Amino acid sequence: MIVGIVGAGTMGAGIAQVCLSAGHDVRLHDISASAIAGGRARIEDGLGRLVARGRLDAQGRDAALARLTPAPTLEAAAAGAQVVIEAALEELEAKRAIFRALDRAASADALLATNTSALSVTAIAEVVRRPGRVLGLHFFNPAAVMTLVEVVAGERTDPAAVAAGTAFAEALGRRPVACHDAPGFIVNRVNRPFMQEALRMLEAGEASIETIDAAIVAGGFPMGPFALMDLVGVDVDDAVARALFAAFHAAPRFRPSPVQARLVAAGTLGRKTGGGFYRYDTVGRVLGPTEVFAAGGAALPADEIRTRIELAIVNEAYHAAGEGVASPPDIDLAMQLGAAHPLGPFERARTLGLRRVVGELRRLERLQGERFRVAPALWQIASV
Ligand SMILES: NC(=O)c1ccc[n+]([C@@H]2O[C@H](COP(=O)([O-])OP(=O)(O)OC[C@H]3O[C@@H](n4cnc5c(N)ncnc54)[C@H](O)[C@@H]3O)[C@@H](O)[C@H]2O)c1
Repeated sequence: MIVGIVGAGTMGAGIAQVCLSAGHDVRLHDISASAIAGGRARIEDGLGRLVARGRLDAQGRDAALARLTPAPTLEAAAAGAQVVIEAALEELEAKRAIFRALDRAASADALLATNTSALSVTAIAEVVRRPGRVLGLHFFNPAAVMTLVEVVAGERTDPAAVAAGTAFAEALGRRPVACHDAPGFIVNRVNRPFMQEALRMLEAGEASIETIDAAIVAGGFPMGPFALMDLVGVDVDDAVARALFAAFHAAPRFRPSPVQARLVAAGTLGRKTGGGFYRYDTVGRVLGPTEVFAAGGAALPADEIRTRIELAIVNEAYHAAGEGVASPPDIDLAMQLGAAHPLGPFERARTLGLRRVVGELRRLERLQGERFRVAPALWQIASV
């Protein structure tokens, strides 16, 4: 199969590598010729790492690279492709311009997919003549390692296109989950409280960043929220928080954090700038918390830290499922694969018992306010 990829940056190159490894021919396009060369170098590097680990032989690497063709124009990337994946700028008008052109350049039965993290698939598809074939295929970073793909159906996406996108992702060795076109899709939305609730504790002086991170790691998560924000980029995470806050009409549970805004204003953006919530040395080792976060504060018990963060996530998962964004099993799988949670939120709720979950959320609502109000879908299930 020929796969066209538009955008040869971090995600485009990663997705291209996955497609090449699955045996597809890839046409890689970018507006910048040097980005295409950079994308190819990253793919070579990625395949080289697989060879070093014994997961691919040199012949397989050479064959994969031979299937990669640079496409100087968008039309060259789309010609003959059965699937085109756009992984360019996260801007609606930029994506619309690309889809307008793809609609003309691609064959009538080609799937047109966007890798957008936060834009509406429906809004992107509005500009094409055949919106039925436009869908989201949301890969996670690093695409060569992360197996989750959110298959996003816009308002006008044809069910056959969703089925074809799902089969395509499966053939790449990925784990597709079905999801409707709603802000943050599954993972970025349901995992929002992981950061947001930790930031609230910090803002209120209830616990230090180290105490919170340690409590979460002790709960089986690979990384605490502050270490994670530093890794992803404090600015990138703040932008996600702001986009969701706007999309959910300023719902209090999505309120962005002034602490995060201050770090962004100061250019203290995490590992990429040598410091965020923590300070790092030149090889990325943690030196300690950044000065302003060094003070301990009153330490909330680790159990309460975990309860607040985990139950806020469980509640958000019930909000999302209740609104028809995705099914509980797909949300559970997405949170385990896309955010490395030890248990999916519905499994977590079952383990705790729904009555206890509701009781704890009501206690937290009394203490913390409306952001812990029990989601309607959870209320309904727990009251039967
Ligand atoms: N980085 C992540 O963690 C991540 C994860 C999932 C989804 N995404 C989404 O994937 C998309 C790409 O993100 P990225 O991190 O790879 O960005 P990036 O900046 O690394 O790469 C984007 C590339 O697109 C190119 N580009 C810009 N406009 C173009 C156009 N009109 N035609 C062709 N190429 C164009 C740029 O030159 C650049 O090389 C975004 O929509 C982003 O939201 C990113």
